[in-house]
Amino acid sequence: MPSTFSLALILFALLNLFSPLISGAPVEDKTTDLAQAKSRPRCADVIQRREWRSLSDDQKDDYIEAVKCMQSLPAMKPVIKEAKSRYDEFQAYHIKRAESVHLTGQFLPWHRQYLKVFEDELRDKCGYEGTIPYWDWSLDADSSKPLSKAPVFDATHGFGGDGAPGTYTLPSNHPPADYLIYPTSFKGCVVDGPFAHHKVPLGPGKYIGDHCLTRGIQEAAKAYLNSIAVKKIAAIPSYGEFHVEIEGMPLTTSHRPHDGGHFMIGGDMSNLYSSPGEPLFYLHHANLDRIWWEWQNVAPSRLYEMTGRSTTTAPFTNVTLEFPLDMDTLGESVIIRDVMDIHSEPNCYTYA
Ligand SMILES: *[C@@H]1O[C@H](CO)[C@@H](O)[C@H](O)[C@H]1NC(C)=O
Repeated sequence: MPSTFSLALILFALLNLFSPLISGAPVEDKTTDLAQAKSRPRCADVIQRREWRSLSDDQKDDYIEAVKCMQSLPAMKPVIKEAKSRYDEFQAYHIKRAESVHLTGQFLPWHRQYLKVFEDELRDKCGYEGTIPYWDWSLDADSSKPLSKAPVFDATHGFGGDGAPGTYTLPSNHPPADYLIYPTSFKGCVVDGPFAHHKVPLGPGKYIGDHCLTRGIQEAAKAYLNSIAVKKIAAIPSYGEFHVEIEGMPLTTSHRPHDGGHFMIGGDMSNLYSSPGEPLFYLHHANLDRIWWEWQNVAPSRLYEMTGRSTTTAPFTNVTLEFPLDMDTLGESVIIRDVMDIHSEPNCYTYA
C-alpha cells in the first residue's frame, strides 16, 4: 500500500499532530444527558437516506440533477471569493474549517450538520424531494469486482468513473507549506458521466484555480472499507475510541474507513481541505454518519455520548454537548447536542 498520498500524511506533515494525539490516547469520559434527550421534540416524520444502489435510476438522476443545480446557483457569501456557485461555497467553507473539524471530537457531529445543511439546500433551493444517499462502500470492498466498477462510478446513472491518465497536471506554483498533494492521487480528469466537464474553482488543497474534477481510484483501499474493517470499529464501546478509529490516520497508525475512503477515490477527494469538490464526498460522509448513528443506537447511554479534543493544539479541552458547530453562510449553526439524535427536531432523517 503506497501511503505517500494518504490524507494521513498530509496531516502528519502539516499539523505535526502525530505524537501528541497518540500519546494522549483517550480514557473514556462520557457526557450523557438522557433527561435532556427525552425533552427534545420528536420528529413527526423522518425522511430516509438510502444506499445509492437501492435508488431507482430516476431517483439517482434526481440526486445528480440536484447537485448540478447547486453547482449552477450563485454563491451567496463565500469565505473564499473565488467560489462561484453555492456548491463551491460549501467546498470553500470546508477548506477554511478543515484544521478544526478533523482530528477532534467535533469531527463526526460537525460533518453531520454540514451534510444536513447541504441536504436542506438541495431540497429548498433545487426542488429536490429526496435525501443525500449514502455509499456503503463495504459492499464493493467485499466484492471480487474492482472498486472502479462500483455503481456510484457508473457514467449513466452515477458520478462517472476514474480519472483518465495524462489529462491533468498539478499546479506547480502552489506553496508546499500550505498543503501536500501527492501526484499519484491525481491520476487525471473524470472524463465520463455528469461531471466530466465540470470545473472545480478551488483546490487542490488550499490552492485556488479552476480545474477538472480529478480522481485516482485506489483498489488497495478495499482493506480499509470492507465489512470486517467496519464491524471491528462498530464494536468499539466508547465514543472516545470510536471517533478516532473511524476517522483514521494520523490518529491511528494505518488507514481507517474515513481516510481510507478519501484516498480510495483520489483527486481532490484525497485532500483534507478541498475534498467536497468531489460530489461523492457527501455519499462517503453520509455512510460514516450512518455507521455512527448505528453505533449510537446500540445502547441508550450512547445517544448523547460525546468527548474528544476541541482543538488540535494545546491547551486541550474536551468538546461537550454545548460545543458550537458553526456553519457560517451555509445554514443553521447549532450545538453538538442538537445533532445527536437525528430523529429529533430539527434533524428528522434516518438511515434505511
Ligand atoms: C478529555 O477527556 C479524556 C477522556 O475522553 C480525558 O482523559 C481527559 O483528561 C480530558 N481532558 C480534559 C482537559 O478534560
